[in-house]
Amino acid sequence: MKTTLSLIKADIGSLAGHHEVFEECKNVAKEMLQNAKNSGLIIDFYVTACGDDLQLLMSHQKGVDNPEIHELAWNVFKAAADVAKKFKLYGAGQDILKEAFSGNVKGLGPGVAEMEFEERPSEPVLFFMADKTEPGAWNYFLYKVFADPFNTAGLVIDPKMHDGFIFEILDLKEGKSVELRTPEEIYDLLALIGQPGRFVIRSVKRKDGLIAAVASTQRLSLIAGKYVGKDDPVCIVRAQHGLPAVGEVLEPFANPWLVAGWMRGSHHGPLMPCPVEKAKPSRFDGPPRVISLGFQICEGRLIGPADMFDDPAFDLARQKANEMADIMRMHGPFEPHRLGEEEMEYTTLPKVLEKLKDRFK
Ligand code: 13P
Ligand code: 13P
Ligand code: MG
Ligand code: MG
Repeated sequence: MKTTLSLIKADIGSLAGHHEVFEECKNVAKEMLQNAKNSGLIIDFYVTACGDDLQLLMSHQKGVDNPEIHELAWNVFKAAADVAKKFKLYGAGQDILKEAFSGNVKGLGPGVAEMEFEERPSEPVLFFMADKTEPGAWNYFLYKVFADPFNTAGLVIDPKMHDGFIFEILDLKEGKSVELRTPEEIYDLLALIGQPGRFVIRSVKRKDGLIAAVASTQRLSLIAGKYVGKDDPVCIVRAQHGLPAVGEVLEPFANPWLVAGWMRGSHHGPLMPCPVEKAKPSRFDGPPRVISLGFQICEGRLIGPADMFDDPAFDLARQKANEMADIMRMHGPFEPHRLGEEEMEYTTLPKVLEKLKDRFK
């Protein structure tokens, strides 16, 4: 039996600006997914939120890109957005960019990460969800986990991982993807993924084909043609038994790195790992947050969750992130706090340039 995990998310509106998902919106999602479970469409589900983004974790046997599963997620987001509209929540329906559903939510606004696999005798899976950032935020993380032996001891000492991994990289500008093999092509890989606004890791598999990680790659500004909020990506990573251990998967977050997003989606800031309960960004609408929920998958059922960053071992990372946030904030409207020109093209900058064009001598 093959199990499919679908992690589909959207910002459907939030409480006190872009701060947190309203409880009643989560309740609507839970109710609808419970009905889908009762009817046998999905095996199991879990509803959570990171900041102002609502995430639906679903397990089923229908494979990836299944129209019924995508329609279910779409209907949940529309119903939750209706609740948000009823209470005049902020940005109600923010990520519902297009109205007409035709079989897949990709390209309509929601972010999607899905994988299908034959369950191993024990199947630990980590779900990562971020707020106030973009899909390229995962590049550094996934590289460290699957290609850096200073992060992942198993790359050196586990014979099943010793051959390395295959990274699928999507070029968001050209809409094409390329597969690169590690360790032999790490310099080429880094040349691409070091530019996270354009090149994003879509999946990682072991060289024998076993799927290890998938990430959402949807960029809202490219769909909408203007700034409509940040993408706030999700990612699924399988762990243990021939894959990185759970602790190896979490280890990169001990040292926060800078990502694009934060205030108005236009600023670099540190990605702060935190427990679900603390994933409510407020300072300058941030700094960007990441949460991780761990489950054991058992015949499609989601056993858990464990709140992976609810550990004092990540206190120092949070403190570092706060210090980095101070350093970045000190720059105010200056780069590198504010994003570079290319990333700002969907904001006010073109209008400012247009207004001043005759005054340039
Ligand atoms: P345990 O001995 O606690 O099972 O841990 C094994 C391991 O590989 C940890 O990464
Ligand atoms: P979200 O993308 O999380 O909605 O945030 C948008 C924003 O403009 C924050 O300042
Ligand atoms: Mg929002
Ligand atoms: Mg958000």
